[in-house]
Amino acid sequence: MKTTAMEKAGETAGKCGLSPKDLMQKAHKIKYDEFYTRYEDIEKEIPLYDKEIWKDKVVFCNCDDAVDEKDGKINENRTSAFALFFINNFKTLGLKKLICTHYSGPVDLFSAGSDGQVYLITYEVGKDGKIKIEKQSPKGYTGSFDDPLSLKILKEEVDIVCTNPPFSRAIEYWKMVVKSGKKFLIISNISNAINTAYIPYFKDNEVWAGYNRIDYFLNPKKQLADASGHWYTNFPITDRPKYKHLKIMPLKEIPEKYIKYDDSKTLLVDDCYAPSNYNKPFAVSARPILNGLLEKGYSIIQEKRYTPYINGEEKFARVLVQKV
Ligand SMILES: C[S@@+](CC[C@H](N)C(=O)[O-])C[C@H]1O[C@@H](n2cnc3c(N)ncnc32)[C@H](O)[C@@H]1O
Repeated sequence: MKTTAMEKAGETAGKCGLSPKDLMQKAHKIKYDEFYTRYEDIEKEIPLYDKEIWKDKVVFCNCDDAVDEKDGKINENRTSAFALFFINNFKTLGLKKLICTHYSGPVDLFSAGSDGQVYLITYEVGKDGKIKIEKQSPKGYTGSFDDPLSLKILKEEVDIVCTNPPFSRAIEYWKMVVKSGKKFLIISNISNAINTAYIPYFKDNEVWAGYNRIDYFLNPKKQLADASGHWYTNFPITDRPKYKHLKIMPLKEIPEKYIKYDDSKTLLVDDCYAPSNYNKPFAVSARPILNGLLEKGYSIIQEKRYTPYINGEEKFARVLVQKV
């Protein structure tokens, strides 16, 4: 009898403790590693923060593959939008330095000009007031965000990390960046607030949503590809425009169709409604968290995602919150 690819995947998966479903999800994420951020999405998000946060700061793009530069000329088509944005706005933002890495992954969209070489590239203003570009290929450096040299730079030099890290390694990336104690502004999956791997960061107020969602990335052929991304940060959000989507009101005023009780009698509330007079835990989707519910007197009370069952049937995952 012929073995199907799925069965083969199952065998391999079994050996490394993963189910075939886990493997499929992993493969899916790896595919998204090669999606790139559009310049306009960066241009839309960054100006929303207080301009002072960038002044005299060292910015690190540590998952950007990064800049195609020769003799001081940038090939924009082969440069990550993050690197390009900071290069174009270096003086306007008052940056001190930009450091970008090049990771030699399987697809090298941006850096064909550098022959897939692993490198670090830095931009800073020289003594003559002109931008000074320096490119190095340190011996043994992999360009990975968790390479000892990347971690040393992060610890010793960097003020702000800004990138769209690989989806397949987002869990490790979040752990690394939060532990570093540095400021960050990064893109990740829109549903992280209901994912057990990330819920503790939202619960402990170490990460919150940035301003915008990301609906499109570019694939390696530079074609538009649907996306479900969002900005996440630990920079203050002063006036979150998305508060207006939250509908906080007494329970009995919430339309019935947005309220359910699951088999364990937990209240499920949809469509960004939140009861203002309910003191027990209730379950919500990621959307109200992204719209700032945790800044309006509610806290996450369980580190694991909440999976409701209604009449024994599994419903979509949520997170448990409670009025403080
Ligand atoms: C989702 S893409 C985003 C690329 C770029 N930051 C952007 O926003 O357009 C993730 C990038 O991370 C790179 N990458 C994968 N594993 C990495 C690692 N361990 N360290 C650093 N970069 C990595 C991939 O090659 C890919 O370029």
